[in-house]
Amino acid sequence: MRNLKNILVTGGCGFIGVNFIRLLFKHTPEFSGRIINLDALTYAGNITSLQEIEKEFGIDSGSTVRYFFELGDICDRQRLEGIFDKYDIDTVVNFAAESHVDRSILGPETFVKTNVMGTFALLDVARRHWQLDAEDSSGPLPVSADAEYIPGVIFHHVSTDEVYGSLGEAGFFTETTPYDPRSPYSASKAASDHLVMAWHHTYGLPVTLSNCSNNFGPFQFPEKLIPLMIINMMEGKPLPVYGDGKNIRDWLYVEDHGRALWAILSKGQLGEKYNVGGENEMENVAIIDELIKIVADKSGMDPEKIRRTIRFVKDRPGHDRRYAIDCSRIKEELGWERETSFEEGLIKTVEWYRDNMTWINRIRSGEYRYWVEENYGRR
Ligand code: NAD
Ligand code: TYD
Repeated sequence: MRNLKNILVTGGCGFIGVNFIRLLFKHTPEFSGRIINLDALTYAGNITSLQEIEKEFGIDSGSTVRYFFELGDICDRQRLEGIFDKYDIDTVVNFAAESHVDRSILGPETFVKTNVMGTFALLDVARRHWQLDAEDSSGPLPVSADAEYIPGVIFHHVSTDEVYGSLGEAGFFTETTPYDPRSPYSASKAASDHLVMAWHHTYGLPVTLSNCSNNFGPFQFPEKLIPLMIINMMEGKPLPVYGDGKNIRDWLYVEDHGRALWAILSKGQLGEKYNVGGENEMENVAIIDELIKIVADKSGMDPEKIRRTIRFVKDRPGHDRRYAIDCSRIKEELGWERETSFEEGLIKTVEWYRDNMTWINRIRSGEYRYWVEENYGRR
């Protein structure tokens, strides 16, 4: 088990980052280190999602400070250098990305900037610090995959199953499936994955990489399928289904993704990649069906009335048909298992959105950005 002391989490104010930070502080007793959250607070970053963590572990907590927030862009090398020095970073978990496929179709440039150039900048700064630390420890450069303590920096890159392309009716993505990205989002993530592996093979930087299927759960920005549907159902608004609604995704509850990341960080083989998935393939229309039942049950609404708001709309250009993950490697090698069933996860998610209308309304009104504007001016 590696002893991770100063973890730089990038994009920690986004959906998966927030859940990961909460998981480490609140439900991972073996984690005793510090988290430095570097986030540019784009439209997807929401600092209010971490208020509770800030209070308990941040600078005003009144006890040992274990959580730090830094506003900054992963493309900004100078900023990165400063952070590595200031906090003596030994671990990087790179969540920071532009993550929404529909937005990547409308405006791909920022996807290339953040996902490709940002990952490049982060890798290169991490490499410099790793080499400096390795020289300090006056030993050989630490490339051993199973060493428990690696001087310097371990770099984990959080990626997606979308890099593998689209499946037909049969088959699964394994860790050796060739990359075949088809949207600007997945192409930019594929490029970043290749950079990460190149920094390992060429320079020896200790890296790990994970490719995960679709996540769902609390704090997801309401542009993605599941939160969008829940909120629209609760408010009697139309439910837009792209194409015939028979596209298939493999869904995983976000906390289980966080647990997988922790397993990889603490004992994953360096230089290797792990697929993470829920082993839960669903057609979009089947998910909407499930959600209608849960929302109706929790709110007393008439399920038939909700069903009548379904609208089949124009398909997403280049819409991938099916994703399915073979995650046997992480299960067998690291003992990771999904803990939350899809049904249980969906119920928790519906309850969370029902009980957190303030969080949703703050996004709608733009209030979730006030803190940034007050502290850093309009961005
Ligand atoms: P998100 O869009 O909710 O959050 C992204 C975060 O990154 C935001 O807080 C944003 O402010 C920050 N960010 C964006 N550009 C930045 C930059 N240049 N510098 C610093 N911060 C920046 O995304 P998410 O759903 O939490 O996804 C996190 C990671 O996981 C992404 O890399 C994504 O590709 C990957 N992933 C997501 C899913 C999913 O289903 N959501 C599945 C597999 C992998
Ligand atoms: P999304 O949540 O955007 O994730 P991704 O595209 O990364 O898989 O979409 C999940 C699936 O739901 C995808 O097949 C597109 C579909 N979808 C709709 O049918 N309607 C919608 O309004 C959205 C946002 C997605």
